[in-house]
Amino acid sequence: MFDRLQALAAEAQGRHILDLFAADPDRAARYSAETGDMRLDYSKTHIDDAVREELLALCDRADLAARREAMFTGAPINETEGRAVLHTALRNLDGDPVEVDGQDVMLGVLEVLQRMRVFAEEVRGGAVQGAGGSFTDVVNIGIGGSDLGPVMATLALSPYHDGPRVHYVSNVDGAHIADTLRPLDPKRTLVIVASKTFTTIETMTNARTARAWMQDGGGDPARQFAAVSTALDLTSDFGIPLEHVFGFEDWVGGRYSVWGPIGLPVMIAVGANAFDAFLRGGQAMNRHFRAADWTENMPVMLALVGIWHRQACGHPSRAVLPYDQRLLRLPAYLQQLEMESNGKSVAMDGSPLSVPSGPVVWGEPGTNGQHAFYQLIHQGTDVVPCEFMVAAEGHEPELAHHHRLLLANCLAQSEALMRGRSLDEARQRMADKGLTGDELERQARHRVFAGNRPSTTLIYSKLTPFVLGQIVALYEHRVFVEGVILGINSFDQWGVELGKELATSLGPIVDGETGTEGKDGSTAALVAYALRHRD
Ligand code: F6P
Repeated sequence: MFDRLQALAAEAQGRHILDLFAADPDRAARYSAETGDMRLDYSKTHIDDAVREELLALCDRADLAARREAMFTGAPINETEGRAVLHTALRNLDGDPVEVDGQDVMLGVLEVLQRMRVFAEEVRGGAVQGAGGSFTDVVNIGIGGSDLGPVMATLALSPYHDGPRVHYVSNVDGAHIADTLRPLDPKRTLVIVASKTFTTIETMTNARTARAWMQDGGGDPARQFAAVSTALDLTSDFGIPLEHVFGFEDWVGGRYSVWGPIGLPVMIAVGANAFDAFLRGGQAMNRHFRAADWTENMPVMLALVGIWHRQACGHPSRAVLPYDQRLLRLPAYLQQLEMESNGKSVAMDGSPLSVPSGPVVWGEPGTNGQHAFYQLIHQGTDVVPCEFMVAAEGHEPELAHHHRLLLANCLAQSEALMRGRSLDEARQRMADKGLTGDELERQARHRVFAGNRPSTTLIYSKLTPFVLGQIVALYEHRVFVEGVILGINSFDQWGVELGKELATSLGPIVDGETGTEGKDGSTAALVAYALRHRD
C-alpha cells in the first residue's frame, strides 16, 4: 500500500522545495488548510500533486470515512479492549445523541459536566472550603493522561487563570510530592486524585502520602479530597465522599480525557466559562473533521503529512516546535498522545506492520530550542520534519514587540530549513570577511546548510481557550487518521504493561525482602549496589 509513495519519496529527494514554489505561484494556498481561527501550511514540504493524490488514496483504501463515523457513533473500535472510543462526546456540548450499546451517553456526560461546573465554581468562590477556610491551592495527583492534558492546558490558559493556584504531582519519586506540598497549607488545599483505573501505583502512592500530610497538618481529607475516575467503588474505598467524585466511562482513553472530569483542575483554575470555550473549540474541530473534504480537512492533511514523512520518506522522528511559551508542555502531551497511540508493531488483526509505526515525537518551545538542538535540525545528517506553531497575536499588548520577534523567529526557521545556504554562498560570506585560500575553503564548509528540509506551520489567531481546544482536537484526530491508515489500534497501550508487572515483582527485591534469584546479572548487580549504598 505504501510502495508507490516510497517510490515518490525517493524521487522527491532529487528536487528542491524552492523549485516547487517557483513552478507554482499558488503553492502556499494550494498546500494549506484553514478552519476556524487557524491555518495549517504544509507547502514547505516535498509534497506535490502526485504525492498528495497518492496520500489521499490511502484514506479511501483504509476506509477512513467509515472508520471516522464508527468512532463518532460509538462502535467498539478499540478492538483489543472491546470498547467504544468517545472522547469526542465529552465536547459535544449541544448534546446530540451518541449511542453506546443502544444507550445515549450524552445525558450522563452533560450531567457530570454540570456537576463539575458547580463544584469548580464553589471551590473558586469559597462555598466549598477546607478545614482552614477557602482553598488557596489545588493539587492534582495523576499520571500520564490523568496529568499531561490538564498540566498542558492549565499552563496554556494562564492568562485566564483567576482561581486558586493549581499544582500537579505525577512522579512516584517522593521529590515531586515533597517539593509540591512543602509550601502549601494542609488546611486550605484541595487534593484531586485523578486516575481512570484508581489502581495506578504512582498515583495511589502519592494520594496516600498527600492524605497523611493533610491529616498530620490538621486538614480534613473527607472535605478536602476529590476524585476523578471510572472506578467509583475504589474511590469510595479510599474515603472520598460521593459528592466529590466525578466519574467517566471506559470509552474515554486516558490520553484523550482532558475534555471531561480529568479537566477538573483546569476548570477550577480558569472557571467554567473558559473551560466551556475550550470544549467548544474541540467541538468545532470535531465538526470540521467530520464534514470537510479530505484536502480541506486539517486533521486529515496533517496526518497525511505525518505519513509522508515517516512511512514514505522514512524520517524516524518529528519535532513539535511551538513558538508559544505557554505551550511548553504541549510536546510532552503530544508524546503520550501520539506515541502511546501509534507506537505499535502489529496491525489490528495481529499481523506485523509492513511499514514503520509512528515516529518519535519531541520538541520544546521556540526560541529556546534554537539555542539548543536546532544546530542538529539544520546541519545534522538526519532530516527532522519540524512542526512549527505560532499565534498571530500574543496576550500582552504592552509586549507586542516581543511577539513580533517571536513570530519573525518562527518564520525564519522554516525559511532557513527550506532555503539552506550553498557552499558558494558560504564562500562568498567568508570572502566578505576577508578570508582567502585554504582557510576560506575550510571555514566555508562549516557554514553550509543543506536546506531542502521540510516543515509545517500552524498559525492561529491567539491562544484562547477556544483555539487551544481546536489545537488539541486537531492532534487527536490526526493521530486517529494516521492509526487508521496504518491499520493499527490507536486506543490501547499494551506496551506499558510489561514494565509495570516487572516493577511490581521487583518491589520486594529492592526492599531487601527477597533475593535476586531468577533476575539477570545486570539487574541483580544494580539491586546489590542500591542495597549497599543506602542507609
Ligand atoms: O501508562 C499507561 C497508562 O495507562 C496511560 O495510558 C494512562 O494515561 C496512565 O497510565 C494513567 O492511568 P490512570 O488514569 O488509570 O491512573
